[in-house]
Amino acid sequence: METLLQINTSIFSADGQSSRLAERFIRAWHDANPDGRVIVRDLAREPVPHIDAARFGAFLVEAGERSAEQRAIVDYSDRLIDELRRADVVVLGLPMYNFGLPSTLKAYFDHIARADVTFRYTDKGPVGLLTGKKVYVFAARGGLYAGTPRDTQTQYVRDFLAFLGMSDVEFVYAEGLAISEAAKQQGLARAHAEIDRLAAPELALA
Ligand SMILES: Cc1cc2nc3c(=O)[nH]c(=O)nc-3n(C[C@H](O)[C@H](O)[C@H](O)COP(=O)(O)O)c2cc1C
Repeated sequence: METLLQINTSIFSADGQSSRLAERFIRAWHDANPDGRVIVRDLAREPVPHIDAARFGAFLVEAGERSAEQRAIVDYSDRLIDELRRADVVVLGLPMYNFGLPSTLKAYFDHIARADVTFRYTDKGPVGLLTGKKVYVFAARGGLYAGTPRDTQTQYVRDFLAFLGMSDVEFVYAEGLAISEAAKQQGLARAHAEIDRLAAPELALA
């Protein structure tokens, strides 16, 4: 049975455009995988705390040496990582806020990047340990950035996921959503067509 982890990061939760695009894809995925399991993590409803010195410090303490507070911090990070580790498919909603990713997603990333848990340093450089997953990213933007040097979001997310071992990543963009009603409809229609194209052949093979 395939497991899909849906990570919503819009401040509007399921109502965000990025979450709605993800939902459209997941409906098609479910049709192709009727026994598949979908797990939803909504970072607006349940924000991950910002990383700070105490949290990062807890990650570095040996298991047997942790205080009760440090154990709680590491257990929380472990739960996020286990959820991700169990997923065969990851669907990430990615709004653009002030040229970057939602701060809740950055906080989530800061809790899942753990040396010797999700990546390992080796003589040949870092190696990601969360391999074998397919990732779909649904990016929603008010303006137009995809394929230009101003789209630093795509490269950052690609680099971060690859660092943890997730290099099979597909991006779908809905852009121009704040330009005008016509641009918004065009941006959404393009994204929908891309989702339908992705869903048709690839999912039939899943
Ligand atoms: C706080 C905030 C900041 C935004 N900053 C940008 C921006 O820098 N560039 C852009 O193109 N759109 C920007 N937008 C528009 C969003 O990208 C657009 O509304 C998109 O639909 C957000 O995804 P969501 O609906 O899934 O939350 C911003 C929207 C908000 C609410």
